[in-house]
Amino acid sequence: TKTLPINLPLDFSSIQSLPESHAWPESNNDDQIENNNDGSSSLALPIIDLNDPNAMEQIGHACEEWGAFQLKNHGIPKSVIEELEMQTKRLFDLPKEQKMKALRTPDYPTGYGTFWMTPLFQQHMWQEGFTIFGSSEDDAKKIWPHDYQSFCDATKKFQDESKVLVEKLIHLSFKYLGISEEEEENWIGPKNHAGAIQLNSYPICPKPENAMGITPHTDTSTFTLLHQSQISGLQIFEDGSGWLTVPLVPNTVVINTGDVLHILSNARFKSALHRVTVNSIKHRYSMVYFYKPIMDHVISPLVSNNAHDDPRFRALTYKEYADIKGKNFNKALSFISVKQ
Ligand code: SIN
Ligand code: FE2
Repeated sequence: TKTLPINLPLDFSSIQSLPESHAWPESNNDDQIENNNDGSSSLALPIIDLNDPNAMEQIGHACEEWGAFQLKNHGIPKSVIEELEMQTKRLFDLPKEQKMKALRTPDYPTGYGTFWMTPLFQQHMWQEGFTIFGSSEDDAKKIWPHDYQSFCDATKKFQDESKVLVEKLIHLSFKYLGISEEEEENWIGPKNHAGAIQLNSYPICPKPENAMGITPHTDTSTFTLLHQSQISGLQIFEDGSGWLTVPLVPNTVVINTGDVLHILSNARFKSALHRVTVNSIKHRYSMVYFYKPIMDHVISPLVSNNAHDDPRFRALTYKEYADIKGKNFNKALSFISVKQ
């Protein structure tokens, strides 16, 4: 049962042991794919070089097999990622009262708070977050009335660079799927798509094996771009094998496809099921960029798996889908699937 209001993160700075509100019945360590002695795993997420002449095929295959990959030569300057990482730590390392000045509420969806899916569960996750749509200025001002500019600059630069990269990935993956340039036009740019940033903090946890950073989910987005700092914790589910930890690889970003691209590709691309584990060694931070359609954009399959394959999902607006996701969570895709 919940002892904390759903939108209120714990005051992690004062915690010595895992509170009952944050203890999950099932162990977080079940089902993890074992690493070899040298830390490598026989299964690994593809690492793709965007400058490789075969990048398009590699991205297409990775989206089909995993719904995710790690990308190098991605073009986002190192300084942009490092600055955002610094600002993320600056934010979350503030005393709780300070962060609470920008608390998110059901009517005000940006700022400080817990993960959006928290209300769907009995237990709390070991996480605090900060959500940004467009400019972060209004929320940052509440926290640092005179010193918000460096935070806003960092989030804006990350958002701008991530958008350029994700639109390149949309171009390559659409080409791979054989989707026309006219359709592509309809799927990129400010008229049809919007970006959002989610900053996450996972403090050191006294009993990580019973805690949950973020519960298993697929993203609602078209594409998600992610940078994890300090320590790994993101895991991706591989059918038949289990949970694979995504290692920290220098100078790469993690890319995963979301539900929207799964729908557009008529289920050819996976929407990666992923979760976050926590640890007792290092405070982990992650910086996430979501690229997703504007609310009234209509989404429906743009390709068929083969000439005989009918669309597997019904057409609906992104808002309609986001509402279904908010109520049905990981079952949302089956709610819109068309019986074959
Ligand atoms: C997420 O799934 O959005 C969070 C990922 C992470 O913290 O690595
Ligand atoms: Fe996610």
